[in-house]
Amino acid sequence: MERLSIDITKCMSGLDEGTALTPNMLEQFAPQLEKARRAVLDAAGTGMLGWMDLPAQDPGPYLDFAAECADKYECLLIIGIGGSALGTTALATALLPFYYNELSPGERKGRPRLYVLDNVDPDETVALLGRLDLSRTLVNVISKSGTTGESMAGYLVLREQLRTLVGQAALNEHFVFTTDPVGGALRKIGAAMGAPMFDLPPDVGGRFSVLSAVGLLPAALTGMDVRGLLAGAQDMADWIAETKGWENPACKFAGVQFLEDTALGRCVSVMMPYSARLRDVADWYRQLWAESLGKEVDRQGRTVNVGPLPVKSLGVTDQHSQLQLYAEGPDDKVITFLGVGEFDKTVTIPTPGPEAEALAYLGGHTLGGLLWAEQKGTAWALAKRGRPSLTITLPRVEAYSVGALLYLLEMATAIAGGLYDVDAFDQPGVELSKQATYALMGRPGYEALASEIG
Ligand code: PA5
Repeated sequence: MERLSIDITKCMSGLDEGTALTPNMLEQFAPQLEKARRAVLDAAGTGMLGWMDLPAQDPGPYLDFAAECADKYECLLIIGIGGSALGTTALATALLPFYYNELSPGERKGRPRLYVLDNVDPDETVALLGRLDLSRTLVNVISKSGTTGESMAGYLVLREQLRTLVGQAALNEHFVFTTDPVGGALRKIGAAMGAPMFDLPPDVGGRFSVLSAVGLLPAALTGMDVRGLLAGAQDMADWIAETKGWENPACKFAGVQFLEDTALGRCVSVMMPYSARLRDVADWYRQLWAESLGKEVDRQGRTVNVGPLPVKSLGVTDQHSQLQLYAEGPDDKVITFLGVGEFDKTVTIPTPGPEAEALAYLGGHTLGGLLWAEQKGTAWALAKRGRPSLTITLPRVEAYSVGALLYLLEMATAIAGGLYDVDAFDQPGVELSKQATYALMGRPGYEALASEIG
């Protein structure tokens, strides 16, 4: 299969002196970059690097479960948040047909519609539950910790509705849990209910879990090419293991982002897909990059307060919303364009009649060609303004290339963690807000905090 490509030339040439990465800078940085890559590879199998083993797993259990569920459910509802939801959404947008939920059961080949509830907004919850035939719904509750308040609240709401509708004894027909193999409330709940359960390995953190049961079970249930995803990820893993320094795709991405931030002051990392299918990959990346690299202390415990700000954007839509800022606002951004070599469909723009002569230049081109011209033209125009960009091009948006892209970005994040010298696998900054919520919701043990918050 053809591999994706990553081009960093627009971070290097065509920009003003002093604002571009130079061959000399890259050369000087190469040993540090290689050291960061080596450190991740050498640490495989330890700590929170279990996600590195996921491409080699056997997806049989997910596919078997999906086969058992065939024609049984009209809807699949995912309840999860953060790393327990964003990966599934990214996969669904990339790999399911557009407007999948509007397809007929026949067109969906008996597979369920897919809904992801990753918020606790009551209006959204009521509206969504009002649309679902719960008697024909499978609810996949996903929580690594098995304790996250938002997801547990969603579970309790669904459990109550389903219990009223189908009865306690049949609940295990409507729930499947994805959680830690041992700990957490969800594991106990699933065991007591006798519901099917899938393990999220303890050494895989939430935002690195898309290629575990977290993402692959919903993918299998909705008919995505799970084996293709893993094959693409494995090919990327091999590529990253085999190539050094700036030749290495993950090093290229991590190294450019790091140098742009720390050497050139560009601390905003915009991801801008020029493919609607890749829109939610940018959202998934936003969490991966932010939660992994935004840290108060380094690995020695020194206060550093580092972390680039990831931003999601969409070409061509956001050319009419964000581009003005990228081109003329503060020179603090590096843009990553996500492009595709070939779209599934070809739409030729009709040649207009004499009444619309001003539009004649569009006639005969394809929409894909227009999107490509917009991407290329924008990269050029930004460079003209002295604004750097890099481009990752997928030959096509399919399971193989998406698996490769996700793994690339995970590995780049791990390498960037080494470059920033932070623990890319924890998220201590969100803990206090969780505790405050517990306190405000009256959880026993948090009384003192509740009075401190007032
Ligand atoms: O990346 C992470 O670890 C977090 O974003 C989690 O995915 C998120 O907080 C949800 O946690 P859990 O899966 O334990 O419910």
